[in-house]
Amino acid sequence: MTTKSNVVRVGVLGCGNVGAALVQLVERQRDTIEARTGIRLEVTRVAVRNLSRQREVAVPATMLTRDAASVASDPDVDIVVEVIGGIEPARELILSALAHGKPVVTANKELLANVGAELYAAADAAGADLLFEAAVAGGIPLIRALRESLQGEPIRRVIGIVNGTTNYILTKMSEEATPYAAALAEAQRLGYAEGDPTADVEGFDAGAKAAIISTIAFGAKVVAGDVYHEGISHITSEDIAAAHRLGYVVKLLAICEHIEGEIAVRVHPAMVPRTHPLASVRDSYNAVFVEGDAVGSLMFYGRGAGGMPTASAVLGDLIDAAINRREGTHGSVGSFRKAVIRGIDETTAEYYLPLEVIDRPGVLHAVTGVFARHDVSIRAAEQEGSNTDARLVFITHEAREADVQATLRELRDLDVVRKVGGLLRVIGS
Ligand SMILES: NC(=O)c1ccc[n+]([C@@H]2O[C@H](COP(=O)([O-])OP(=O)(O)OC[C@H]3O[C@@H](n4cnc5c(N)ncnc54)[C@H](OP(=O)(O)O)[C@@H]3O)[C@@H](O)[C@H]2O)c1
Repeated sequence: MTTKSNVVRVGVLGCGNVGAALVQLVERQRDTIEARTGIRLEVTRVAVRNLSRQREVAVPATMLTRDAASVASDPDVDIVVEVIGGIEPARELILSALAHGKPVVTANKELLANVGAELYAAADAAGADLLFEAAVAGGIPLIRALRESLQGEPIRRVIGIVNGTTNYILTKMSEEATPYAAALAEAQRLGYAEGDPTADVEGFDAGAKAAIISTIAFGAKVVAGDVYHEGISHITSEDIAAAHRLGYVVKLLAICEHIEGEIAVRVHPAMVPRTHPLASVRDSYNAVFVEGDAVGSLMFYGRGAGGMPTASAVLGDLIDAAINRREGTHGSVGSFRKAVIRGIDETTAEYYLPLEVIDRPGVLHAVTGVFARHDVSIRAAEQEGSNTDARLVFITHEAREADVQATLRELRDLDVVRKVGGLLRVIGS
């Protein structure tokens, strides 16, 4: 039964892809949520930038405001949802809502990956929830699994495809031999990629998610600046075809590892064996592979973005925050020490390296000699020749990044080498 006391009034900051879907989902699920939890969610205020913009959802004019700060501090708002994005004003609005004792739900990866620690501390000081399931991998319940179900588990490694746009582009390149530029244009036409695709294709978005995952999985503060990242804009059709011939597919991976007390976090394209579960993650889907000591390997798969999947995760957090508020309790992300970051130079992987060389006797010997001088041993080699030029492709055994980079530098100076192609790490062999 609905009474005044079981109504929870929600202020939503932002009514774009996620905010509009959330308003619709609350409307659609309200009675079911009330029947299950005894809590009746009512969106009572919605802050936007442009009052006259046409929206996906009909929001009464009386509910809309351009004054987001007034929503964050409104005594008639019980819980605040931040789905504006970016650092400011989102940061100030969340701090204000927490300071007014309101639980906050956010989907903002950029904010958490840069100033998460400040917000987690503010939530603890205010004794209010700060929940952010939607900030990583959209609709996939990964953060709650790491924070709750796996809180007793020493996590060793989390590897994931956490950016749907780049996975869509790589799938088109791989399955339909579409060149990079055409695959990107198609992703933009379908609304998967922004007009300026830099955040996705250069790995910034995946890097922010990797920082949040590492912080939660390993219990140490990792920020976006700690994450080494490379994107996919240099991946060529030749790389994709060579990977295919060798039994691999190319994926943009976020790799978070806990090694001997240090944390190595990186985002880069990698060749994944065709038999690995991550290889079958196609189109704009996301998947995250978690490796723990006791639990072994777990895989989480689903829609990592999109208004509705993301709003689903926001709504789950909203219900949790409402229940906690009723019970007079709240969760805590925890206060973390700064992580000791292991730089990319000290990480190890197998490497794929294509070279264009002059086709004459002794070239292979000269090239393999460079690998040997830097302690990089070769696992497989392939050669395609013409009259004067040859393309050599090498896959190494596990090697140190710094040694491989030194090998590359020396190869570039070798007079028989015409071109050193893009390096790809080989993961999961
Ligand atoms: N879209 C996804 O698939 C997805 C997935 C996971 C996480 N997220 C995260 O969810 C958040 C929202 O993403 P989105 O795709 O919904 O963004 P969006 O479509 O660009 O919507 C942003 C909303 O914020 C409003 N806004 C901007 N500045 C404002 C201000 N100063 N005061 C009040 N309102 C303001 C905009 O108002 P107007 O409408 O008037 O312009 C718009 O309604 C971001 O943090 C994003 O990283 C999104």
